[in-house]
Amino acid sequence: MSETVGRQRPRRNRRTSAWRSLVREHHLQVSDLVLPLFVCEGSHYRQQIAALPGRCRTSIDEMLDDVQEADALGIRAVALFPVIPDAQKDAHASASADEQGLLPRAIRALKQAYPHIQVIGDVAMDPYSSDGHDGIVGPDGAIENDATLPILCRMAVAQAQAGIDCVAPSDMMDGRVGAIRDALDAAGYPTVAIMSYCVKYASAFYGPFRQALDSAPRHGDKKTYQMDPANSREALRELALDVDEGADMVMVKPGLPYLDVVSAVRQASPVPVAVYHVSGEYAMLHAAAQQGWLDYQSCLLESLLACKRAGADCIFTYAACDAARALGGNGG
Ligand code: PBG
Repeated sequence: MSETVGRQRPRRNRRTSAWRSLVREHHLQVSDLVLPLFVCEGSHYRQQIAALPGRCRTSIDEMLDDVQEADALGIRAVALFPVIPDAQKDAHASASADEQGLLPRAIRALKQAYPHIQVIGDVAMDPYSSDGHDGIVGPDGAIENDATLPILCRMAVAQAQAGIDCVAPSDMMDGRVGAIRDALDAAGYPTVAIMSYCVKYASAFYGPFRQALDSAPRHGDKKTYQMDPANSREALRELALDVDEGADMVMVKPGLPYLDVVSAVRQASPVPVAVYHVSGEYAMLHAAAQQGWLDYQSCLLESLLACKRAGADCIFTYAACDAARALGGNGG
């Protein structure tokens, strides 16, 4: 044996595909994936979202077709976001409390057609707000935390009445998890879960999503409520508060640029951790693939696997169907 070869040869565990699969530490499964869907008014309506290639805004009937596709691929959860017409937006996001509003109707239709699909409802003012903010804008332009909480509570209860499985407050107001928990319990919905967007950064990677919903802030930015990308210790403070207030699950968002945070939250969290592979991450993959610079499928699976390795229990991704197909469909 050559003297240059030591006893330690990590490559022995990489020799064959079969051996690599024996020693693999992390696995991406179809059951890890959550598909976000953008729903709008109308019927037989389907409009491509330019910055999210392959994803559409759809009316409720067309959304059911997308859910059928996802269901056939083995995806078990979807996250719903409403596209609200400008005429229905106002400073108090009034449309969000309407039990017959767009999102509650979408939830009812979905749970009726696919009772086994887990439906996660976004709770935040921005799709309904004429200011494009996640909280009430005060006279001085500041986002008013406590005035926003009752609006979020009414929104969550309206979704619960429609049969939602889980509400997902994505607004980053302080104290909203506890307030929503109390409101759901008082309204008779103790089994509706709360997935808190617990560690959500003020990220420029949300651009395509805001185009999809036409929900960009009309003035200012979200830096007084979403987290500073420079901070990670603060993530553990947010985690402790949301768990204390009753969060059943927490989310870190965005995904890839924040995997250090995912890992820290995973280690500290007593509840499951979701990661949001956000719109900008999806758009970047597509843009590079369109140029012929990256292989879409390989880079997608690698990105999602990296989220799992960092500690994600589940992953929100616009590419859920693509990933499910690549993983071989049902069950992964
Ligand atoms: C807003 C919300 C945003 C996303 C999910 N919920 C955008 C924002 O905070 O402005 C972004 C998701 C994505 O970029 O994929 N409540």
